[in-house]
Amino acid sequence: MSRYAQLAYTDSVQRFQAEQGSAAANARRLGGDSERDLITANEAAFIESRDGFYLGSVSETGWPYVQFRGGPPGFVHVLDEHRLAFAEVRGNRQYISDGNIRADGRVSLFFMDYARQARLKLFGRASLMDTSDELHERLMSTRTDGRVERLVLIEVEAFNWNCPQHITPRFTADEVRQYVSALHAEIASLREQLKGT
Ligand SMILES: Cc1cc2nc3c(=O)[nH]c(=O)nc-3n(C[C@H](O)[C@H](O)[C@H](O)COP(=O)(O)O)c2cc1C
Repeated sequence: MSRYAQLAYTDSVQRFQAEQGSAAANARRLGGDSERDLITANEAAFIESRDGFYLGSVSETGWPYVQFRGGPPGFVHVLDEHRLAFAEVRGNRQYISDGNIRADGRVSLFFMDYARQARLKLFGRASLMDTSDELHERLMSTRTDGRVERLVLIEVEAFNWNCPQHITPRFTADEVRQYVSALHAEIASLREQLKGT
């Protein structure tokens, strides 16, 4: 996680680590090269299976801003080992994240899989493109849930997988339906058996 640590471990963070006695352990994470992290098949499969993520952006006044971006599973595309992209649909028209991104492209993405207790944190630089871009058709293919207003491209700088501790497993309505349908089938079959007794 060297690139991730190089970005996250600011002077103030490192001072805090020193005060808490974790400076040595964390210093090891700072080592290594400072090349951007490469998205592997593992991250790509995770990202492309998600139906949403949390997007942190930085306002001009330095306030952090977090918004949820949701969509059909696979609406975030992994273009290559450095880039993600998704189409943005019309929302409440406040454009807080987009306004932030236009002034400062630095973003933090947080992908969760509550059911499997996995999460992926990612730093990147976002830029906005209009729908005339050549990526439009590809990104539209998974975006069936609204009026697309623009495209967002994210150059990935670094990522880090978190440990599953403290993630309460949660399931989507679809996942619950699948699970319950197997139980319903079993109950129906048991009822049939009971009828014959
Ligand atoms: C009609 C409508 C009303 C919405 N109202 C809200 C709202 O009050 N608060 C909110 O956080 N999101 C609301 N949303 C969802 C946001 O529009 C959506 O999450 C969008 O991505 C917000 O981006 P932003 O926070 O970067 O401006 C609404 C969406 C629609 C379609």
